[in-house]
Amino acid sequence: MRVGLLTGGGDCPGLNAAIRAVVKHGEGTYGHSIIGFRNGWRGVVDGDVMPLGRPHIRNVLPSGGTLLGTARYHPDDHDGGIDAVMATLEAERIEALICIGGDGTLHAASKVAEAGVRIVAIPKTIDNDVSGTDLSIGFHTAVNIATEAIDRIHTTAESHNRVMVVEVMGRHAGWIAVNAGIAGGAELILTPEDPFDIDQVVKFLKHRHRAHANFSIVVVAEGAEPRKGGSMDYTTQLGRFGEIVAGAVGERLAHEIADRTGFDTRVTILGHVQRGGSPTPTDRILGSRFGVAAIDAVVEGRTGVMTALRGEHVELVPLSEVAGKPKRVPADLIRAAQVLA
Ligand code: F6P
Repeated sequence: MRVGLLTGGGDCPGLNAAIRAVVKHGEGTYGHSIIGFRNGWRGVVDGDVMPLGRPHIRNVLPSGGTLLGTARYHPDDHDGGIDAVMATLEAERIEALICIGGDGTLHAASKVAEAGVRIVAIPKTIDNDVSGTDLSIGFHTAVNIATEAIDRIHTTAESHNRVMVVEVMGRHAGWIAVNAGIAGGAELILTPEDPFDIDQVVKFLKHRHRAHANFSIVVVAEGAEPRKGGSMDYTTQLGRFGEIVAGAVGERLAHEIADRTGFDTRVTILGHVQRGGSPTPTDRILGSRFGVAAIDAVVEGRTGVMTALRGEHVELVPLSEVAGKPKRVPADLIRAAQVLA
């Protein structure tokens, strides 16, 4: 069988583990040919292929990024995009396509599946906002990196008696913020799920610095916004492609805090550091399990699905049920962040 493979959307640690598992299991166990497409859906549209075999996956488990390359390109957003995908898949005699991606890639995958292609998707995103799965590849590593950064920022905050605002990624979800914020012992954790009141933030910081300590760590998700009608007028800043402008909310919040409290305040924008470098064992294992499950699904003819971690098990969920439906942070996790901060 000829099985296509692509990684789309933003990169993250753990993608190479999934690619390795697809190649090892697909070629090694079943003798399938694995055909890689470079740079996500862009490579499918352009017919940019790369045969994948054992030499390509040697020693890739510890490496970050994706050996296939990736792009933020969705064929369903372009006239003739799906037709171009179909033409390439036919020319390359691809019998099933494994797509590793976040929400945008999965949405395109569901459109291509509707056009008749046998698709198995694998969820990845540091944002952890793909529904249907407990975890997506990359999230665990991103939380680790953000937590380590908060730990480091703690010591310098304390030495200088400063308020340190730490902006983390996550797009419109606060998964990284609540997890890294709780793990790093942040004093305040601000998320898109729970719009903040700047007056309360200022009151809290003044009280804390008067009564308990002379430094504070404020973790803010890049998609967090102040409560509408409050005394801070700010809405999430979007760039040309609808992406959240890195640093915008962090900078603005630090400015407001400094102005209103008079405290020495600094901001750290963690940015793409959260997406780079070596994956944690959890992400290597998750990518490996998803890769094996994807090949098994192809072999069993179970397509139009996504691999998903549900409790202890990897299961298959219909792609149509998950694409375009972002997974929200549960209320109890938000509550823990509020209570402990
Ligand atoms: O979706 C992953 C993510 O890292 C988001 O957290 C962030 O908003 C976005 O990608 C950044 O995208 P880009 O790498 O295209 O700037």
